Amino acid sequence: MSTEQTLSRIAKEVSTCTKCALHESRKKSVPGDGPASAEIMFIGEGPGFHENEQGHPFVGASGKFLDQLLAQAGLTRGEVFIANVVKCRPPGNRDPLPDELAACNVYLEAQIEAINPSIIVTLGRFSMNKFFPGAKISAVHGQMKRIGERFVIPMFHPAAALHQAALKPSILGDFAKLPDQLNEARKALGRMVIDRKKKSEEVAADRPKQLNLF
Ligand code: URA
Ligand code: SF4
Repeated sequence: MSTEQTLSRIAKEVSTCTKCALHESRKKSVPGDGPASAEIMFIGEGPGFHENEQGHPFVGASGKFLDQLLAQAGLTRGEVFIANVVKCRPPGNRDPLPDELAACNVYLEAQIEAINPSIIVTLGRFSMNKFFPGAKISAVHGQMKRIGERFVIPMFHPAAALHQAALKPSILGDFAKLPDQLNEARKALGRMVIDRKKKSEEVAADRPKQLNLF
């Protein structure tokens, strides 16, 4: 199965998922968007009002800001994968609950395994906690750490920066560092020269998937 096919199967599974209570109130599930060959994966919190209406991540106010932040790093949405720790909207945008995070984690793990990004950027504390349990975002934001086969950089959530003006320079500064961090990650992972098209073919050929969720 190609990476593209794996991602579509995950999205399809998510669309009919009833593994946690969030399925009861969702309008559209939001599995995540982006190319199978993405070198960078962003992981946010969960769908909000507009995402629940449209079925796509970061399409509301924080999405507009995320677009500006991506531009700051010389990136476009077309080349990154954007997902969330929960794929269905928590009612009233409340925080996702531990059992919801646990239930939804299998999809996120399957997406990470399929895409195999060089860098994961966590946006906000829920996705940060997945990789850095107990870390304080104010202390670690913008710092890249190797975790297994990839690097993870915790960052503030764009919505937090929208609501707290004091965080804005931090998140802008962290995004500005991303291009250099990507080169550093590529070197460390031996992915210096990347032919994107070739990469997705190799990923498809080299890494037969054993996804047990289907
Ligand atoms: N906030 C998130 O964390 N994720 C989205 O998809 C939209 C807003
Ligand atoms: Fe399933 Fe995740 Fe949606 Fe819960 S949030 S119903 S686990 S897809």
